[in-house]
Amino acid sequence: MCGIVGYIGKREAYPIIIKGLKRLEYRGYDSAGIALLNGDLKIMKKKGKVSDLEASITGESLDSTLGIGHTRWATHGEPNDVNAHPHTSSDGKLAIIHNGIIENYQSLKTELEQKGHKFKSETDSEVIIHLVEEIKKSNNCSLEEAVRLSLQEIVGAYAICILSSDEDKQLIAARKGSPLVIGVGDGEFFIASDATPIIEYTNNVVYLDDYEIAIIKNGKLTLKSIEDVAKTPFVHTLEMELESIEKGGFEHFMLKEIHEQPKSIRDCLRGRLIPKDNHLFLNGMSQYMNKFLNTDRLIFIACGTSWHAALVAEYLFEDIARISVEVEYASEFRYRNPVIRENDVVIPISQSGETADTLAAIELAKSKGATIFGVCNVVGSSIARASHAGAFIHAGPEIGVASTKAFTGQVTVLAMMALILGLKKGTLSESRYRELLFELDTIPDKIQKILENAEPIKRIASTFQSAKNFLYLGRGYNFPVALEGALKLKEISYIHAEGYPAAEMKHGPIALIDEDMPVVFISTKDATYDKIISNIQEVKARKGKVIAIVTEGDKDIQNMSEYTVQIPKTEDCFIPLLSVIPLQLLSYYIAIYRGCNVDQPRNLAKSVTVE
Ligand code: G6P
Repeated sequence: MCGIVGYIGKREAYPIIIKGLKRLEYRGYDSAGIALLNGDLKIMKKKGKVSDLEASITGESLDSTLGIGHTRWATHGEPNDVNAHPHTSSDGKLAIIHNGIIENYQSLKTELEQKGHKFKSETDSEVIIHLVEEIKKSNNCSLEEAVRLSLQEIVGAYAICILSSDEDKQLIAARKGSPLVIGVGDGEFFIASDATPIIEYTNNVVYLDDYEIAIIKNGKLTLKSIEDVAKTPFVHTLEMELESIEKGGFEHFMLKEIHEQPKSIRDCLRGRLIPKDNHLFLNGMSQYMNKFLNTDRLIFIACGTSWHAALVAEYLFEDIARISVEVEYASEFRYRNPVIRENDVVIPISQSGETADTLAAIELAKSKGATIFGVCNVVGSSIARASHAGAFIHAGPEIGVASTKAFTGQVTVLAMMALILGLKKGTLSESRYRELLFELDTIPDKIQKILENAEPIKRIASTFQSAKNFLYLGRGYNFPVALEGALKLKEISYIHAEGYPAAEMKHGPIALIDEDMPVVFISTKDATYDKIISNIQEVKARKGKVIAIVTEGDKDIQNMSEYTVQIPKTEDCFIPLLSVIPLQLLSYYIAIYRGCNVDQPRNLAKSVTVE
């Protein structure tokens, strides 16, 4: 949901900002813009991708060591040149970039218009810079003070950067609800929505907290709250590698991330799982073990793909640890007046750790006294910091908008949690526990095997590239995988797809089946195997085209399906880690055949920081 970048220091700002915006394009890519300060403000903005902006800037002087940039995912006002950020004040001396939503912008705008302010765009963001201008003029105060007072009047979420051509060289940034990281270099500072634009310049970062303002001038960073209380910047050291945010020879980030899964799962298991020593340990969980043992239910909250991982968790925890589980869409949970008890353990799952609905649901659960155990990918993210404890999935940066390695990382962590709890509660015998530890350890190699045998998947993708609809059916552990497979296809190929529990098909979707309907069955040899065979027959009887994901060596389903993809055998509880891989590849190759932009699908953004 919009990416923002800022630079102040001794180097040329423009190349740093353009490169940073490209790294943040996963957050939105409908328009982009830059403001550079060199005496006057120079604003360049353009509808389209960062590369369109770059191409439109020719023959201009870009001399400046102070600038800000923005890549947009539209909320208020259609994507066009005018609505692109940065926005400027009426006198043109102030410029702002903003990520978030200003909820009271309409009333502020009306007041400001009555005072003579002329608005150029339809955005909510523009109102902030006019408000700062108004307060600065009427209070005759510094920019820093005007920003602080303005933020007290603003309702909503924001990460902002502001430049002024009227005062000494400085960069002012602030956040509430939307992420902002400050990179601390040698006499230079970088600002960004996440650390990816910063990592090649410095490992030292300060995560801005809600209601904090950063003032950077004269080579110094000062932090204060919007109540004017001085804060001490805490410098963290980033552990991210530069290679992890580059394509590394793959055509797309999504394909790279699909192929990274054997490694990302090994990274997730590293030090936590040592089967020969009967060792499985999650530090965050052990600290809160009493809470896990004393609660009678777990509540999972998430959105999108992470919600599908939460559905897998429902099967895992009920099956292995015999604890009751509720799985909630974060956006529904918070508006439903849910019953939350003090001994509830609430488990938000989020790749980015910034999803606004998930964050708000956490705050609600926290206010009722629940314990929050976060399962996140991004270290230092808002959700990780808002949780009492948690476990990172250590998948490394996920840049492709369609989530792949984060899903398998989440399921891996959730499986480890369920095993630990099952053993502690005695619902899992020591011997079974040990067997499962050994099996979990084999998963990365089994994924590797699926990735090395992608040819049949490519052929299926080529055959069905023009399909109008797809149905994905699975039962048990494969039901959430069916939902995830359908979501992947919708997201990047724009083919309508539905995921369904296979047995529910006869209560509606069966009416859709004819000779043009491809039906993907996730039909591995597990507890529901015999039942799903009947569902396959029901589809065949209506001439549907059956594409079956089967366990290696399975002849029965192979004989009755037009197309099959084999995956290695594993324990039922780990099947989603394998069965999702062919579905990720299928959607990837279909999207490629259709000429879609896989890494930047239309209308989507990776990190949804608006409600
Ligand atoms: C967006 C992304 C999805 C993601 C969802 C939840 O919709 O496009 O890929 O699953 O947000 O994001 P989170 O970061 O909380 O997992």
